[in-house]
Amino acid sequence: MVRNLILIGFMGTGKTTVGRSCAQRLKWSFIDTDHEIERELKCTIAHIFHYRGEEYFRQVEVEVLQGILQGSGQVIATGGGIVTHSAARALLEQSRTAGSRIVWLKARPGVIMKRVGRSLERPLLNNEKPLDTITDLLAKREHWYQQLADAMIDTSDVAAVQVVETVLNFLDAGEA
Ligand code: S3P
Repeated sequence: MVRNLILIGFMGTGKTTVGRSCAQRLKWSFIDTDHEIERELKCTIAHIFHYRGEEYFRQVEVEVLQGILQGSGQVIATGGGIVTHSAARALLEQSRTAGSRIVWLKARPGVIMKRVGRSLERPLLNNEKPLDTITDLLAKREHWYQQLADAMIDTSDVAAVQVVETVLNFLDAGEA
């Protein structure tokens, strides 16, 4: 029995959309770490980055992840940068050992750019050259996504409904 389904991957790869549909299909709860952080601190991610900085955000992100991973029967969409924190990586590894499955959603930089662009909601991309930032951050993060994932799905040219099917098939195959 799979404990939790955890979606990792860069911004704009479909974690929230795909995660919500998977949760509906599985009749599991859906949790988005960004949303939990905003709920807990009662302000937006953009505000947290602006007033408290990224390091503070990462600390809260790890705490929130730790709390969520106590539970089971959940589809968890994680923030794209969660893998940059060693404590978060350790928590994800532990959860995998405890029976969670980690799926890495991936997309090409140009596709990510089209999906999120210069996003006010995503402070790391709210600059003059978001495509450069995307390429840069992807190069830094991809080995972590790869290291943690049980499966990878490229969502660049695939509709979200199809990605959902692929994720659910992957979970079923693991159950057999
Ligand atoms: C971030 C990704 C965002 C959010 C924050 C930082 C990142 O989440 O956590 O803006 O560092 O890649 P999404 O991946 O859900 O957009």
